[in-house]
Parts: sequence; C-alpha cells; structure tokens
Amino acid sequence: MFKQLFIIVIVYLQCFTQNAWTFDLFGFMSLLKNPLCRYKECCNDDWIHFRKDHLVMNLTDHVYGQPLLQHAVDALASHFNPSFKNDKALVLSFHGMTGTGKNYVSNFIAASLYINGMESKYVHQFSRANFPDEGKISKYREFLYNYLKKAMTDCPRQLFIFDEVNELPPGILNSIKPMLDYKNKVDGVDYSKAVFIFLSNIGADVIREHFHDLYFEKGRQREDLQMIDFEFLIEKGAFNENGGLFHGDLITHTLIDHYIPFLPLQEEHVRKCILHEFRKRDVNNPKPEHVDHIFKFVEWGPDTSLIFAKTGCKRLSPKVALLVNKYYKHEISKQNEL
Ligand SMILES: *[C@@H]1O[C@H](CO)[C@@H](O)[C@H](O)[C@H]1NC(C)=O
Ligand SMILES: [Mg+2]
Repeated sequence: MFKQLFIIVIVYLQCFTQNAWTFDLFGFMSLLKNPLCRYKECCNDDWIHFRKDHLVMNLTDHVYGQPLLQHAVDALASHFNPSFKNDKALVLSFHGMTGTGKNYVSNFIAASLYINGMESKYVHQFSRANFPDEGKISKYREFLYNYLKKAMTDCPRQLFIFDEVNELPPGILNSIKPMLDYKNKVDGVDYSKAVFIFLSNIGADVIREHFHDLYFEKGRQREDLQMIDFEFLIEKGAFNENGGLFHGDLITHTLIDHYIPFLPLQEEHVRKCILHEFRKRDVNNPKPEHVDHIFKFVEWGPDTSLIFAKTGCKRLSPKVALLVNKYYKHEISKQNEL
C-alpha cells in the first residue's frame, strides 16, 4: 500500500518537475521493474559502462613499457562517450611479439567495461581452439556469423576478442566482415555499439626493427613514442598478411579503426614483471639473487644484439611460483596468520 502511494508520488513528481532529483527516482523505479538485474548481470549501465580511470590504473600497474596503449584507451573513451553516436563497431587490432601483454590488456579492457570482466556473458573469446578442423571452414563461418548475430540481438554492447588471429584457419573471419563495417545494420542487427579486438603477432618483426631504429639510432625515448611514429608501417601494410590483415580474410585498414603496436620488452620491463609475479604471491621483497635467478632464464635477441626479451614476460610465472613455494612459504603463511 505504502509502495503504491510512493510510486504515485514519484510519477506525479516526474510529470510536473524536470530536475535531477526526480530523475534519480525514476531510475529507482526502473529497478523495481526488473529487480533481478540487481543481482544478475543485465544489459544495462549498471553492469556495462566504461571506467577509464580503472583501465588506466590497471595498465599502469600491470603492463610495462607500452606507451602506445594510451591510444587504445582514448579510442575506447571516445567510443563510449555517450554524447557521440558511433557509426560503426570499434575495431582494435593489437600487434606484437609474444609476452608483450596483448591478452593481459584485453582482459583489463573487459574488466573496465563490464562489472563481471572476462566472466561477463557479454564478453566472448575466440581462438584457434574454437576452429580446429580446416575441413569445416564453411560450418565455422556460419557458426560465427550466427553466434555474433544472436549475441548482438540479445545485447548491443558486446566485446569480441579474437586471439592469435594469425593462427585461425584462412577464411574464418570473412563471415564477420560486414559486422565491422560502416553499414549500421547487417541482417537487421546494429553492430555499432560492439567492440572487436584482434590479437596477433603479425608485424611483430617490423615493430621490433622500427622501434630499434627509433630508440638506438634516433635516440627516441620509449615513453615519448606516439602512434604517428608507427603510422607509416600501417600505411605500408606491415600489419597485413597476404593482402588481407589475416591470411585469406581481406580485413584491411578500412575496417580496423586502430592498430596498436606492442613494443618488445627490455631488461627493466622484464625485471618489473618478475617483481610483479612475486608480489602476486605476497612476496614483496624477494631476495635479489632470486630475481637474478629467474632473470637468467630469459632469452634475449634479436641475433647478437640481445636487447629484447624473445618471449617478453611469458613463462616467468611458473618459475617464480616454484621459488616462492620453495623459499618463501614460511614467510607467507606467517603473514596470513596475522
Ligand atoms: C584495476 O583497477 C581497479 C580500480 O583501481 C581496482 O579496483 C582493481 O583491483 C584493479 N585490478 C587489478 C587486477 O589490479
Ligand atoms: Mg597470446
């Protein structure tokens, strides 16, 4: 009874006033309409909104030596700016050698967009493992098209991550090309609120060579590099393979909005990764000889210049885990007791 009266009062206020206070109450009413959304993920602003500060903080804390990521952050901020109307889906393509943080960054992006992060039902990840059989390509293409269409019909704010794109069977991505394009509707579905992220090592060698020149020959600081320094690689098609971005799929730079080069990691970044792996396991001050021990496993290249970590920060984690278990277990259990 009281509730009904309350709603009548709100409706009354809603009709006769136009201030922010009644607007809030209106939000409260919509909550009454679908109380489940309070506990269960729904396609609304409570569960999906871009938190730029969150992303910047996560990237600063956990991803080392990648100044060009600022460009990806800006692109997301603009895509999710409520006063802009998007005329196409946002398509980001991350390029760089293994262990430079591409997967890591896409996870942080998911976490900055969805309250449930990678666990969100609106976040989808595809890789070679989803398409194992080269003989079934036309089936896979149909599957992918229908999967995306169904997801987008359910909620327009989806994130699709395609990992190790260079390893997908040729032709898989052909079916989703129209969804990346400017046409607002494909088959009756609007894709303009979606985000696509492609991860690959395509162009990793040219990024490394170009960065090497900029850094060692031109004396440029890594932190000061900007997208414009890599623009000509994009124009040259350095991030394309066999004419299309991904072999057999003519995804070219008319469909990709932003190419993000991931720079190869140097000694200081690898050391940061090692310390971070220790911190993750509650070891804040590992012994220097233990850090050095892990450091010795890192392979360096290219060739004899030995400046860049060949696999970035990959494969450090299990090595740190082993040391922590062997030498710091006592210290950690003591902390946990406190
Ligand atoms: C990312 O940043 C947010 C906001 O500062 C923080 O709550 C969250 O724990 C961070 N995530 C990680 C994995 O550090
Ligand atoms: Mg990877």
